[in-house]
Amino acid sequence: MSPIETDRIQSLLPHWVETSRQRSSQGKVAAYIPELSKSPIDALGVYILGADGTSASAGDYNLSFTMQSISKVFTLILALMDNGEEGVFSKVGMEPTGDNFNSMLKLELVQPGIPFNPLINAGAIVISSLISGHSNDEKSSRILNFFRELSGNDTLTYNFDVYRSESATAHLNRSMAYFLLDNGVLQGEVEDVLDVYFRHCAINVTCADLARMALVLAHDGTDPLTGAALIPRRYVQIAKTFMITCGMYNASGEFAIQVGLPAKSGVSGGILTMVPGRYGIGVVGPALNRKGNSIAGVHLLETLSREFDWSLF
Ligand code: DON
Repeated sequence: MSPIETDRIQSLLPHWVETSRQRSSQGKVAAYIPELSKSPIDALGVYILGADGTSASAGDYNLSFTMQSISKVFTLILALMDNGEEGVFSKVGMEPTGDNFNSMLKLELVQPGIPFNPLINAGAIVISSLISGHSNDEKSSRILNFFRELSGNDTLTYNFDVYRSESATAHLNRSMAYFLLDNGVLQGEVEDVLDVYFRHCAINVTCADLARMALVLAHDGTDPLTGAALIPRRYVQIAKTFMITCGMYNASGEFAIQVGLPAKSGVSGGILTMVPGRYGIGVVGPALNRKGNSIAGVHLLETLSREFDWSLF
């Protein structure tokens, strides 16, 4: 991002954030993970990072929040690095479901009973089981270290209150994991796999962390700020394709039309997105729409994409 672009975005961003923030009153914070119901309902923040390290930011961009489903993009990449494409895609599919993120409907309806894709809960639980490591602690620390490397932030860590809150109430995810075990899709102890999954969902980040992780994806796996090659290009390509087709769950088609960028949302209200070859972007707005995506965050990205003609299509 040239400084001129940064200046232009920065000069307009605070106004757009305040306009989009008003949408928050039409949404709800996630309450099925009890700890998430404490999130500030009208918060909205954004951080946009360019390949030369210049940035634009506005609103509550310093808010700390858990990655939730955004982490699934990066556990998918790590599972691909550990197992290769064949190893991963013998256990999860490549298709959107059109159903809610926590639905298990198609696991029984469509044979073979493998999850449709790695970004729905069932698929991400299978992905957690594919991370290399001798114990769930080792798997979890490999994931955390990978996320630290991608974000350039050595202090990334877990929000244990959110982790415990999810682990104590995740009856649907538990039933899904047992269903997958019975289908022969899941290897290992169900509780161990779920522990890895709940931990990576509970990694705390800010918009700046998400923007840096997204910047690596926007540059085909190389961190433009350090020159370090962190992810093979092919796996970035796979991840970005899933973000377009499934990243915003059953609102992915609408998001592709209105925004036109690869993106991934989480129930804490975070959205990671990017303008390929240019910017990494992190957004947070805890009030969610009916599909589980940040209501103000999506509105803000629609505005930005239209204003700067960012759509890939
Ligand atoms: O498993 C869950 O339900 C959460 N840990 C993550 C779900 C999520 O973020 C879905 N996002 N829109």
